[in-house]
Amino acid sequence: MTPATDRTIHIHPSILSADFARLAEELARIQNSDAVHVDVMDNHFVPNLTLGLPVVKAIRQATSLPLDVHLMIEDADRWAPEYAEAGAESVTFHAEAAAAPVRLARELRARGAKAGMALKPATAVEPYLDLLEELDLLLIMTVEPGFGGQPFLDVVLPKIRRAREALDGTGIPVALQVDGGVTSETILRAAEAGADVFVAGSAVYGAEDPAAAIEELRRTPLR
Ligand code: DX5
Ligand code: ZN
Repeated sequence: MTPATDRTIHIHPSILSADFARLAEELARIQNSDAVHVDVMDNHFVPNLTLGLPVVKAIRQATSLPLDVHLMIEDADRWAPEYAEAGAESVTFHAEAAAAPVRLARELRARGAKAGMALKPATAVEPYLDLLEELDLLLIMTVEPGFGGQPFLDVVLPKIRRAREALDGTGIPVALQVDGGVTSETILRAAEAGADVFVAGSAVYGAEDPAAAIEELRRTPLR
């Protein structure tokens, strides 16, 4: 089947693995990326606490890169629109944490952001296939959300493949993002399964030269 869009590979470094005391400098090291991935965690939806709206606003001021905000928070319906207002290019909420995902996706778009929806590893994509036209981005987690540096879960690959088939079948232009355990090795399998946006935390910020690590990841062939 013909792909939904002319897909190209996108690399979104996660600042979860950056030095939070030197965020502006850390952002300057990933200028060649496609967007900066910002992990918001509330210690309820996931067992970890990171940053919230004030820090996202500060990051917005500190870089010209697009902000890809990944909300791992409860009550996404209440909070996600505020991140769109803060200037995020895309705001991704978890399907498991949204009471009304269609209403929320429309709200995000109305506030000028791309609407993203994320699925934890054990959440099936099938119940959400009819919602794809409401979304600009579908995030399939390749680790249990909460922490950087975890190993990539190959068990999720069939779900990525099914999501890619559904997207190509409908022709709806939704970015298919993977997040968690992405390295220069695992990215090959995720890309082969059909993902086209890759979040990488430790693989980028754990490298001596983050910009070179981004370029290496970018050389991955797309399916
Ligand atoms: C995990 C976060 C990820 C994390 C990825 O819950 O959503 O974005 O930063 O880190 P790595 O690439 O190290 O697995
Ligand atoms: Zn993330």
